[in-house]
Amino acid sequence: LKLSDSQKKLAAEYAVEKFVKGGMTIGIGTGSTVKFAIDALAGKNVIGIPTSKDTEEKCLALGIKLTTINERLPEIVIDGADEIDLKKRLIKGGGGALTREKAVAYRAKRGLIVIAHEAKLVDYLGKRFYLPVEVLPFCWKAVRRDLEERFERVELRENFTTDNGNFILDCYGRVGEPEKLEKDLNQIPGVLENGLFTRNVAKVVIGRESGEVDIF
Ligand code: 5RP
Repeated sequence: LKLSDSQKKLAAEYAVEKFVKGGMTIGIGTGSTVKFAIDALAGKNVIGIPTSKDTEEKCLALGIKLTTINERLPEIVIDGADEIDLKKRLIKGGGGALTREKAVAYRAKRGLIVIAHEAKLVDYLGKRFYLPVEVLPFCWKAVRRDLEERFERVELRENFTTDNGNFILDCYGRVGEPEKLEKDLNQIPGVLENGLFTRNVAKVVIGRESGEVDIF
């Protein structure tokens, strides 16, 4: 394993051990960090709510029982992030699954458990990563012009369609007020959802290069 992969695995396995009990309904996020959590969940008697087609396939391959957010609410959600600030606010959507991820995470009874390696921690959002925004293909160029008023640069994610059949615009620049921006962006007609997660984050579990785990 690469060093970053072993840190991801450490955080994922720690979170599953600490927060998951048999019989629980768990929202399952998307991405390379979550992959390690899915492996760890396989041995537990849980019911998963997958947040992407990719996660659904991985769960099915390991025999994890599944349901949907329409049938029941998860106790907790386990998911990765692209950036995490010290107030537990996130940028997500590097994998393009942000809309389903938020639809599940914000409904978790006891909140979202974020798993990540050390390099994802930042002192402000937008520092290293761009902010993904899911948009309707019908009006994507019009939405891009609206977003260009707020960001330094906005790029269409090339050759990519979300599980919902939409496009992603990646927005570069510092995020000043995450709570306000999260709400404001969703007021733009044609925006489905944005990758700012400012609510319902219960715990952040960080795998450190030293081999230790930090929780805050
Ligand atoms: C997908 C996400 C992922 O959680 C995020 O991109 C982190 O991925 P990885 O664990 O592969 O670094 O938000 O939409």
